[in-house]
Amino acid sequence: MRIILLGAPGAGKGTQAQFIMNKYGIPQISTGDMLRAAVKAGTPLGLEAKKVMDAGQLVSDELIIGLVKERVAQDDCEKGFLLDGFPRTIPQADAMAENGIDVDFVVEFDVPDDVIVDRMGGRRVHPGSGRVYHTVYNPPKVEGKDDVTGDDLVIRPDDEESTVRKRLGIYHDQTAPLIAYYTKVAAAGNTQYLTFDGTQAVETVSAELAEKLG
Ligand code: AP5
Ligand code: ZN
Repeated sequence: MRIILLGAPGAGKGTQAQFIMNKYGIPQISTGDMLRAAVKAGTPLGLEAKKVMDAGQLVSDELIIGLVKERVAQDDCEKGFLLDGFPRTIPQADAMAENGIDVDFVVEFDVPDDVIVDRMGGRRVHPGSGRVYHTVYNPPKVEGKDDVTGDDLVIRPDDEESTVRKRLGIYHDQTAPLIAYYTKVAAAGNTQYLTFDGTQAVETVSAELAEKLG
């Protein structure tokens, strides 16, 4: 099964990716997590990406397309994969098509901007795994600690409100056009386009996903 998750920053892509990964046994390819790992490791890519990410902007299409092409060619992607945060521009979607990478499902989470701004203030993440929590809506078992490892949870540097608003603006300009793009792809072929109301509780969205993905 090959899936693309589409939605604004904070729409719940990473949260539902955890559910899908566990249920269907396919690897999550989160370009955001890959970039954050590079930042942490201090690689040249990480040094280049950090400034751009902290400012809430997008890194270059060229760089991201290279990363994803390399990742989907790995053995564990043979049985399928879950793209979280890619593609997020028309050129990135075109690059997938040009490289013959098609998908079974495009899954969109629809959440209004004001709900997102409220959510991001409470997000906590486990940097090692990318696991995502919320202080109120999806709390860890022990406050401030990852459920699996017990490591400390952190606040993402790009979750400051002004940066979130900038990321939302970029989403509407550069990523939202992919909704029409993939609706058209779905009408023409074997890809199914599914939209979910992402304002519902985490478990409700997961249950609807399981029903539609089969
Ligand atoms: P990335 O890490 O992909 O960030 P994003 O797309 O902005 O999405 P988020 O991770 O912020 O949100 P999410 O939808 O995963 O929501 P989550 O599940 O965490 O990218 C970061 C940066 O990297 C970009 O800004 C860019 O610079 C760069 N980058 C990455 N990919 C790129 C690309 N392809 N091209 C160029 N640049 C790229 O949920 C959010 C919060 O809400 C959590 O606290 C969660 O617990 C809570 N929550 C989730 N669901 C619910 C619910 N149903 N009800 C209540 N709370 C909920
Ligand atoms: Zn995410």
